[in-house]
Amino acid sequence: MRVGVLTGGGDCPGLNAVIRAVVRKGVQEYGYDFTGFRDGWRGPLEGDTVQLDIPAVRGILPRGGTILGSSRTNPLKSENGIRRVKENLAKCEVDALIVIGGEDTLGVATRLSDEYGVKCVGVPKTIDNDLSATDYTFGFNTAVGIATEAIDRLHTTAESHMRVLVVEVMGRHAGWIALHSGLAGGANVILIPEQRFDIERVCGWITSRFKASYAPIVVVAEGAMPKDGEMVLKDGTLDSFGHVRLSGVGEWLAKEIEKRTGKEARTTVLGHVQRGGTPSAFDRWLATRFGLHAIEAVRDGDFGKMVALQGTDIVRVPMGEATARLKTVDPALYEEVGVFFG
Ligand code: F6P
Repeated sequence: MRVGVLTGGGDCPGLNAVIRAVVRKGVQEYGYDFTGFRDGWRGPLEGDTVQLDIPAVRGILPRGGTILGSSRTNPLKSENGIRRVKENLAKCEVDALIVIGGEDTLGVATRLSDEYGVKCVGVPKTIDNDLSATDYTFGFNTAVGIATEAIDRLHTTAESHMRVLVVEVMGRHAGWIALHSGLAGGANVILIPEQRFDIERVCGWITSRFKASYAPIVVVAEGAMPKDGEMVLKDGTLDSFGHVRLSGVGEWLAKEIEKRTGKEARTTVLGHVQRGGTPSAFDRWLATRFGLHAIEAVRDGDFGKMVALQGTDIVRVPMGEATARLKTVDPALYEEVGVFFG
């Protein structure tokens, strides 16, 4: 048995931990051979492979990024993409594919598996934690830790200057990172894409915080939008998903806050810092368990499935279940956390 492995979409801490677990268990327990595909779906599309064996995965557990490289290439959008993927898998004598990715990458795996007979097992990853059917994706815990540390640091400088500090975190469609890091870091305002915000209300909170001698911290997810649609900082370009790329909600907020409250405001955009570096212990634990269960699914011939964390158990769910809709923040949870704002 030869198993192919690829990592697609935005990278995140823990990808290497999955690869290591898959290869070690696959080689040592089942005697499998492996082929790594470079840069997500680009690898099988172009037949670009990399050697994947025990020496190749030695020492990679704590390393961020992915030794296989990643991209957002989508064979369903490439000319003769499906035919080329199938031909290259056959040429490389790959019997089954472990696909480590988010909504987009696993969406491709779902279609290849369900409609074209490619034997795939999915492993969910994204710092955004917005994949359905799994309680957590690896990478999320690390990103929340990085954002929380940043918020802690921003509190002290905000207090020294009695300024508002706006922290923009990742999350185009889901506010999980903003919600978790905002709560952990004691932010005064948390804004998420799921709920349009009222800029007047935000400024009201900020003014009341200053009256109580606090320098407020605002955590905003990059996809958050004001209610009245006044934020026109779209740069007009489309991202790889065909969405209009939004930029600068953090900068926009700081300007509006200064204008409406008369208080000085600054913005920190955390950006890709949230995706880089070593995975947290939790993410290493989760990624390793996902890897061990993914290779077991291959051994069982249980294709078209994704490994998922439900409670403390790793289970297998139909891949389509995870990619059919995004897991966003429930309004009730947002309200519950809102008690602590201000
Ligand atoms: O999906 C993960 C993610 O990090 C999002 O939070 C973010 O909006 C996006 O990827 C950034 O993508 P890129 O690295 O392609 O700019």
